[in-house]
Order: sequence, then structure tokens, then C-alpha cells
Amino acid sequence: MKRTVISFAVALLAIVAYAAVTPLYLDESAPLEQRINDLMSRLTLDEKLSIIHAQSKFSSAGVPRLGIPTFWTSDGPHGVRPDVLWDEWEQAGATNDSCVAFPALTCLAATWNPDMARRYGLALGEEARYRGKDMILGPGVNICRTPFNGRNFEYMGEDPYLASQLVAPYVQGLQSQGVAACVKHYALNNNELFRHTTNVIVDDRALHEIYLPAFKAAVQQGHAWGIMGSYNLYKNYHNCHNPYLLNNILKRDWGFDGVVVSDWGGAHDTEQSINYGLDLEFGTWTDGLSEGAKNAYDDYYLALPYKRLIEKGKYGTKELDEKVRRVLRLFMRTTLRDHRPRGSMCSAEHYAAAREIGCEGIVLLQNKGEALPINTATVKRVLVVGENAIKMMTVGGGSSSLKVQREIVPLDGLKSRLERDGVIVDYARGYVGDTISSYNGVTTGQNLEDNRTSAQLIEEAVNKAREADVVVFFGGLNKRHHQDAEEYDRESYGLPYAQDAVIEALAKVNKRLVVVNISGNAVAMPWRDRVAAIVQGWYIGSETGHALADVLVGDANPSGKLPYTWPEKLTDVGAHALGDYPGTKRDNEDIWDEEYREGIYVGYRWVDKAKTKPAFAFGHGLSYTTFKLGKPVASATRIAQGDSITFTIPVTNTGRRAGAEVVQLYISDLKSSLERPLKELKGFQKVYLEPGQTAMVNITIGRDALSYYDDQRSEWVAEPGDFEALIGTASDNLPARIKFTLTE
Ligand code: GLC
Repeated sequence: MKRTVISFAVALLAIVAYAAVTPLYLDESAPLEQRINDLMSRLTLDEKLSIIHAQSKFSSAGVPRLGIPTFWTSDGPHGVRPDVLWDEWEQAGATNDSCVAFPALTCLAATWNPDMARRYGLALGEEARYRGKDMILGPGVNICRTPFNGRNFEYMGEDPYLASQLVAPYVQGLQSQGVAACVKHYALNNNELFRHTTNVIVDDRALHEIYLPAFKAAVQQGHAWGIMGSYNLYKNYHNCHNPYLLNNILKRDWGFDGVVVSDWGGAHDTEQSINYGLDLEFGTWTDGLSEGAKNAYDDYYLALPYKRLIEKGKYGTKELDEKVRRVLRLFMRTTLRDHRPRGSMCSAEHYAAAREIGCEGIVLLQNKGEALPINTATVKRVLVVGENAIKMMTVGGGSSSLKVQREIVPLDGLKSRLERDGVIVDYARGYVGDTISSYNGVTTGQNLEDNRTSAQLIEEAVNKAREADVVVFFGGLNKRHHQDAEEYDRESYGLPYAQDAVIEALAKVNKRLVVVNISGNAVAMPWRDRVAAIVQGWYIGSETGHALADVLVGDANPSGKLPYTWPEKLTDVGAHALGDYPGTKRDNEDIWDEEYREGIYVGYRWVDKAKTKPAFAFGHGLSYTTFKLGKPVASATRIAQGDSITFTIPVTNTGRRAGAEVVQLYISDLKSSLERPLKELKGFQKVYLEPGQTAMVNITIGRDALSYYDDQRSEWVAEPGDFEALIGTASDNLPARIKFTLTE
């Protein structure tokens, strides 16, 4: 008994002693806001100012006096960027920062699988922690409004609901490792051309129904700790300090309690930065990609210029303290967490995640005569053609460029897999596109030089194609300027480097031609009817060759679905049909006004309104097996405003091999006071089935799924009346229809 009392007393003493020496702000058992208050009370004015702007290219200051570490950010959405010098974009020359490149986010979106998104975020968070990073500058969720946008490969497609369902688990996975997400680029950064000077003019319905939902989901479902303001303007304010987007919508309406980070060089004015929502200023003195004054950190808008305004009495510390509180909250979620996971890099789990996400994101667009999968029992010789079969794609494209531990290119992945079964694999270049093999000081080590003429290259490919059982052409874009790259929009919808001529020539001599398009955007496919199979291969990263081989040889059954419409031609896209891309330059001002005249009619919403016929529809994707949807049943035929309704639909795998199907639910408001799209995606579920197996898929929706944004009342409205649920496996394949009524 006596021993117990003594040990209790000792324990109690230890706790009291710990509490006495450990300041409240470091006590993780204390309420967060109390810790913030305690820390605020200890900071000097200079310390407060020092933590709301950068101190180097990718870091901002902590408070060494109080044991608060430096805060480290890093690009990017697909992997942890190699370290650069303190105040340079150039490489630091580290030898321990080669990472795993995960698939580009368009590929993740094409999986239509929130579990994959969470797994993605978690693996990236582990790599970031191991590299000592506290914030990943990503994911990007800008909506694909035009296939010209250079950065669509970094984003999650054209539909706000799909992007919303994937960004939240990605953010949660990432932040589960103690690494902040910084969801970007908020908002309306839908093309790269004139990205610093474009003032977007868009109606409130399109803003709230199309362009903001994924950011709102990142904040309200994902609980993102960071949001990155975009370079462009909205209502003539730069979005890194914008009263409408940051103060009113993000912080007041959505309740965002995190930190608004500027894009690099996105801040342009001290008083606007003070008053319009910026909390953490990065990259000033650069336009995000070029140089500025050296060591200009004290001259940042939220540095000495801000201090001078306070000293002159123009400002108190009210606005400053609001920014500081947010930054301290960020610290307590990251650098001040004692037991953050240590992370890991280049692990087998990360490569497995990259490969499986890639496999699930690959979209089988066309497969005439079951050209795919390649059956190695009957196929004896395969010819691989195209520069994209050998070109590393993890280097390039802008700030998401990476230095990888390895990248399996398509030819290597496919060759090793086929030769394992005794198939002879040959290669022909087919065309020469871009032989640059470095970006921002990272080199691929490849030498892609080839001085043969186009005619010679095509002749070689055609002669070899005559002898092959199957020809697989790898083409597309390549993350070079104007070919899916930050800061450079595309300038034509067609494939570059005369790839169409190569494909046409191959199609003439071999009917079993498979075209694998590697890109982050749709491209023109005039040869579509003359090739057997078409696969959308995305930028898959380190495991590109393995993932593509898995699908092409049939080790994996493709289940990807397009996250954006694949237009037949550019004028089938609202942004181009109405002619407002890329906007109009003001007379005597370096500002471009870009009016989103198509409003809410983006992607398949435009297809339905303009009655265009896309090459491939949003949500389209084939499988090596077949599926049958049975008769759907609804849990009710009438629902009140607060009710939900569940649609149950049987799905059967009617083929000979296991596979996954994505059941998609679109809602059509049969009669509404305001014009609405014919249908909108409001639910989906991916289901894996063995041959012959049937599963009952349940999709539940509530009033949110029925609502539109009433720009007169500035609120979401679910208008009583009749609705129809359209259920199927693609936006142009919705055989199951159920009507229901929303009452008052
Ligand atoms: C770039 C990009 C942004 C990136 C940042 C840091 O300009 O717009 O996405 O995170 O600068 O590289």
C-alpha cells in the first residue's frame, strides 16, 4: 500500500513538474486554441511578422527562441520535388532526394476510386515526412474547362462532384502523416496562358456550381490545412489577396481555419495582402518561375513594408494577429506535433500504390475485335512504335517535375513482360518529338537524339509493322512547352510531331494496331476508326511501363473512366465555341479579361446543351469483361427537403474474367425556375466482381444533390418538383431511369 502511495506521489510530482516547465503552447494535451493564445502572448512584433512570409524559396521561419522549427513546403501533387538551393530554383545537388513519382492526378481521377485517393495522399505524405517537409503544395483541383490548359494533367477533370469525392480523401491521407495539404490554385486558374494577368469574368452560378465545389470539399470534408491562392484575378483582385474568394467565401462562408498561401509571386500589394485574406507570402520577387531581387525576404509585402505601416499607426495588429493565429495553428498541426510519423521513401508499398493507381486509372477507350489484351499464347511478335514508348515523363511540365529513383518507360515495361512469355518484341522510333532530357537542373540521362528524317522513321516502322502480329504505338504529348506544361497552354488540338501520319501509315499495313495516348488532355484522333484499340495512358510516373504492360497484356483488367469529355474537335468545347478563350487584352493595361461565357455548361454539360458528339464521353471506359445493370429500385418516390433517397441497382459481371465497373448516378431536374444542365453527376460507386457475380450497388443522395446555386438569393436551393435519376456506366450510357419528387 505504502509503495503505491509513494509511486502515485512521484507520478503526480512528475506531471506537475512537466506542466511547470513545459509551456502550454507545447502541451499537446491542451486545447488547440488555448495553446495558440499562449503562444501569441509570447511573440514579439518582429516574430509575428517573420512567420507570415518566406525566408527562402520553399521555407518560412519558425521562432527559434521559442523552439518553433522552420516550416518547409515542397511541390508537388505527384511526388516530393528535389531540393533546390536556399534562394534559387536550381538544384541543391542532393543525392538523397530521388522519389517515387505517383501518377498524375488526372490518372487518379480516372480511377473514380476514393480509396485510391486516400492511399495516394498517405503514400505521398510518408515520402514528404521522410524528406522533412511540412506542407505539400498540392493537390490541384482546377476544373478542366479547355483541353488547351497546360496544367490539366495536375488536376482532376471537368466535373466538380468527381473532383470533390477524390480531393477530400487525398487531403485526409496526406494530412494523416502530419503533412499539410495546400490545395491549389484557388480559384479560376483554368488556363496557363496569361495566368498572371487574366481577370476571370464568370457568373455566380458557374463559380459556385462548377469552379468552387472541389475546393469547398477539400476544406469542409478534407479539412485542408492550406489553400494556395492563384495567380489570376477575379473581380479585378489578384486571387492571392481577394476579398470575395478569400475573406467572404473561403474564410467566412466555408469556415476555413487554415492558412492561405500565395502562389509563388502571386502577391502584389501590401495593403491588399493585409486586408484581403493572404496569410503566408511565398515567391515574391519572382513570377513563380523566374528570378527576382536576391534575398528580398525582408522586402516582401508582409515583411518590412507591413511593419512600417504598423509603426506609422496606419494599422494595429488586428489583421496581423489573425494571420499569425492561422500560421500558429498550422505549426501545431505539423512542426509542433511531437509524434508525427517518420515517413518512408521509395518503399515497395509506394511503388505498389503508384502501379495500382496507374492500372486503375488507365482508360480503355476502344477495343475493336478484342485487339486487347495481347494474348501471349497466340501472339508471337509485337512491334512497339513511338517516342513516348522510351521518353521519361517524370522530368518536365513545370513545378510538378520530379527527380525519381526510377521510371519504367512503356517499352521497357511491355518488353520485359512480353518476353517473359517468349514473345519477340521489336521497336521503331516512328517520330522524333522532343529530345530535351532535363528540366530545372534535373536530367533524365537519356539521349533521344535521332537525325533520321520523318520519312525514314515512318518507313522503318511500316516495314517492321508488316511482320508483327500486333503493333503498339505510344504517342501523345510530353510535358514540353505547349504539350501539357505549366505556363504554356497548347496551341493546337491535334497530336504534335506529325504523329497522325505515323499512325495512318501503320494502320494501312497492320489491322491490329493499338494506340496508347500518353497525355493529360484530350487530343484529336482523326484515325480513330482505322485503328483497333485506343488506350488513354496518362502520365503514370515511376511505374508507367509496369502499369501499361499490366493492362495491355491483361494481367490487370482496365477499369478507368474518363474524368473529362474527349471532344471530337476543339469547337465542340464551350470555351472555344463561344470564342472567349483566352480572353481580350485591355487597351492600355496588361490585363486580359476572360469571360467564361459558357457559364455552367462545362464538359458533358456543354455536350448535352450544344448536342455535340464527343469522340468519347465523360465517364466512358471499357473493360476486358462485360457487365449488366439490372432494374434499379429507389427507396422512395417522394422525399421531403431534409430526406435522402437511396438507389439500389444490381450489377452483374457477365463476362469471363474478374473486373470492376463504375456505376454512375446523374440527376436531372425536370422542371426548375433557373436553367440547369440536362444532367449532373451526383453519385458513383466502383464495384469489383468475379465472373458471374452480382452485387447490389447502393447510392444515396440528399438535397445537396438536387440543389442549384440561386445567384439572385446567393444561396443553394433544392426546388420542389420532379427529378429523374439516370444510372449507368458512362455519361452517354445511362439506361436505368427513375423519377421521383421532392416535396416542400
Ligand atoms: C508555381 C506554381 C505552383 C507551385 C509554386 C512553387 O508557379 O503555380 O503550383 O506550387 O509555383 O513551385
